[in-house]
Amino acid sequence: MDAQSIRHAYLEFFKSRGHAVIPRALLVPQNDPTTLFTGSGMQPLIPYLLGEPHQDGSRLVDSQTCLRAQDIEEIGDNRHTTFFEMLGNWSLGDYFKQEQLHWFWEFVTDVVKLDPHRIFVTCFIGDEAAGIPKDTESAEIWSQIFSEAGIDATQVDIGSEEQGYEVGEQAGRIFFYSDKNWWCRAGKASQMPVGEPGGPDTEMFYLYPEIEHDPKWGAHCHPNCDCGRYIELGNSVFMEYLKSESGFEKLPKRNVDYGGGLERIAAAAIDSPDVFKISLLWPIIEKLESLSGKSYADQTTSMRVIADHLRGATFLAIDGIKPSNKEQGYVMRRLIRRAVRFAFELGIEQNFLEQVVPIIAGLYIDDYPEVAQNRDAVIDVLVKEEKAFRQTLRKGLRELEKLEGTIGGESLFTLYDTYGFPVELSVEEVRQRNMQLSDSWQQEFDAKMAEQRQRSQTASKGTFKGGLGGQTLQHKKYHTATHLMYQALRTVLGDHVVQRGSNITEERLRFDFSHPEKVTPEQLQQVEAIVNEQINKDLKVSFAEYPTNVAIEEKGALGQFGDRYGDTVKVYKMIADGEDKPFSFEICGGPHVDHTLQLTEGGKHFKIIKEESSSAGIRRIKAVLQ
Ligand code: ALA
Repeated sequence: MDAQSIRHAYLEFFKSRGHAVIPRALLVPQNDPTTLFTGSGMQPLIPYLLGEPHQDGSRLVDSQTCLRAQDIEEIGDNRHTTFFEMLGNWSLGDYFKQEQLHWFWEFVTDVVKLDPHRIFVTCFIGDEAAGIPKDTESAEIWSQIFSEAGIDATQVDIGSEEQGYEVGEQAGRIFFYSDKNWWCRAGKASQMPVGEPGGPDTEMFYLYPEIEHDPKWGAHCHPNCDCGRYIELGNSVFMEYLKSESGFEKLPKRNVDYGGGLERIAAAAIDSPDVFKISLLWPIIEKLESLSGKSYADQTTSMRVIADHLRGATFLAIDGIKPSNKEQGYVMRRLIRRAVRFAFELGIEQNFLEQVVPIIAGLYIDDYPEVAQNRDAVIDVLVKEEKAFRQTLRKGLRELEKLEGTIGGESLFTLYDTYGFPVELSVEEVRQRNMQLSDSWQQEFDAKMAEQRQRSQTASKGTFKGGLGGQTLQHKKYHTATHLMYQALRTVLGDHVVQRGSNITEERLRFDFSHPEKVTPEQLQQVEAIVNEQINKDLKVSFAEYPTNVAIEEKGALGQFGDRYGDTVKVYKMIADGEDKPFSFEICGGPHVDHTLQLTEGGKHFKIIKEESSSAGIRRIKAVLQ
């Protein structure tokens, strides 16, 4: 089976087991200021894992496009990619360990036809101090499953990395780990912010026996060893805990959050430890081979980096991101520039994105309608960025020529950082010009790079800080204020006002909408007055579910991404006591406050602090509760 068929078969498999297929969320989280990108399938579903009912029921399945940008510089091995698809199925307080583990096994062995003898699993060893027991239940289910397949399944405690792993793969089939088998967005249980959900998980690994263990990763090989002999295929999280002030408490419901790497399962299906060989990546590599006249076997790392980065940047463009110097746009710019630089080193010195991006779009066009809708604009965005960057590269060359005296690592770093010059290229150019390099240029350059890496890691990882718990109330308030302001803008400016973007932080709301000209100060005052008036009427906030067409066409609910909705939608209503028409009626996933006077807590009121142009025909407003 190729990757596209596996995605399709997975959705069908769970659909026939009572799951509603839900569309992917965008790569840029909507109204979630805690993180730059959607990095796992569970992220858009957090409110439901915390207990809110989901409009499509208690069994959900999807394939979520994800981007993990922390490790851009580390791309190049056989199994990591910045962009990937996470196959997900969820039980929101519905089925639990039995069904989940049997279904997962059935899917990979019966549908994808992986070799059961090469499958190894891991379970949570327990945490006495936190009062969380060893997950013997999952291990027993796995034992049963393996024994039905005629496979001996010894259970073995392997523990934690800190203690050093004292046993290896020969010891068993079901391995109990500590931290490695606790899943939460923060990574470790001890780092979870209050209000975050998490739980023990059980992971499945696939053995590639032809890959020899490399002792640089430790004395013994085992499923979580980094040598690449075992590759994780998927992860069933039993999300039943919530981090609280005093430790952990149980969530209102026991959930299953399963995440499977589409690329890795597809690689296993063709018996390849190299994910770049699958049907969603290999055509890109083939194009790079023909453009450069070099082979993947000789240029593996560079070609992996280019294929990975351009696929990620293409999907960011599909989801509406443009290269810039900030946040998501900055990550996109880095991906494109790194791809162009690596291509340069492969000898591809002419613009080439025009030829590669259509191939990437073609790989997804049948399965994601938004790719077809945006194809030409996406190609345009990437091609423009490539051209601009090549010009910068040329400028960099001129700067290099201006350098005098002995050239040290700091100058090389400036060339790298400002002009995107690969250091190898700078060194080569310096030598060609018979200029002098300082003896310590490499150390100086490395030190600068390390500094920068630290800065950019903070920029992406550090964004996820407070956790939902700490943010919920403030976030909800701004979210509710956004609905009120949207309606007020339509009242004052007219019905041509349509939401084009929204972003909420702890400090403010930001809202983009269509409107052809500057909003006058008088109009802004009117909007403010309407919002404050409604807040003070103490509107009651509630939601109901409707079939999508009924919500939009009959009930006139405000919406934004018309064709991204599923069959039914949740509509939030804000209405004053005694009135029969709600002030605001808008399709939205939540969460919101329960009643609008909560927005005035601490004597606050709603205030617009800025109105500006966002792009052609789109205005942007920032507002606060102060
Ligand atoms: N949420 C789990 C993960 O991302 C499934 O691995």
